[in-house]
Amino acid sequence: MILKRLFQSTIGKKILMAFTGVLLFGFVIIHMLGNWQVFAGAEALNDYAQLIQSKAFVLWGFRLGLLAVVALHLWAAITLTIANRAAAPEKYAESKTLGTTWASRSMTLSGCIVLGFIIFHLLHFTVRTVPGTPEYFQQDLKGRHDVYAMVVHAFQNPWLVGIYVVGVGLLSLHLSHGLQSMFRSLGWSDKRYLPLQMNLARIFAGLIFVGMSGVPLAIFFQLKDF
Ligand code: HEM
Repeated sequence: MILKRLFQSTIGKKILMAFTGVLLFGFVIIHMLGNWQVFAGAEALNDYAQLIQSKAFVLWGFRLGLLAVVALHLWAAITLTIANRAAAPEKYAESKTLGTTWASRSMTLSGCIVLGFIIFHLLHFTVRTVPGTPEYFQQDLKGRHDVYAMVVHAFQNPWLVGIYVVGVGLLSLHLSHGLQSMFRSLGWSDKRYLPLQMNLARIFAGLIFVGMSGVPLAIFFQLKDF
């Protein structure tokens, strides 16, 4: 009952958005560290992928949990946006240009494109709906799915590199404003710390961009012998 009332209120939805945002941010960091195994070679990346895939209940528990977190984050975002616009349509139109950053004004747009990118990414590497690319399905010498061969093959293609770099670029833009809102929603609301919050959010988002886009770019430009 208390939970129901909390999540019907604006502040409850903001807290839900911040909380699910922290979980998604945590996922992105863990996924980025996992992707870096590609720099350690085929054995390391395939070992890591095997570790995640080996226990079906852990994998599916994790997938369903992640899906629930994304759904809650989206639900809070959509209902908050609708409520904001209904409450002050004129003020909303004005505030578009007053005291807001480009990242904050484009949250809905960047959020939608990032969602589209994630769907594309899942179809690409998880469902593997890519015709005529045997490297995507090949097994390594130990009979495991050769994730390393799939990733290295994919990022020979400049179009795919472009899609991933733009996708993670927009994700970083979304995170840079999302993190600032999250700091405030979780109670760190003293205005004196606004510049510090902005800088911290930009640094984190920048690191995610460099760390994520580094994988397709390093493979494409052969920064190492992949
Ligand atoms: C350059 C950026 C990225 C690379 C190179 C990358 C790489 C990969 C690879 C290789 C897999 C398949 C792993 C396997 O088959 O075992 C995967 C799965 C996945 N990725 Fe990414 N990824 C990137 C960005 C992202 C981003 C930005 C997100 C979300 C915010 C994301 C979410 C996921 C999810 C949800 C899965 C499915 C995990 C599962 O349930 O099997 N990835 N990624």
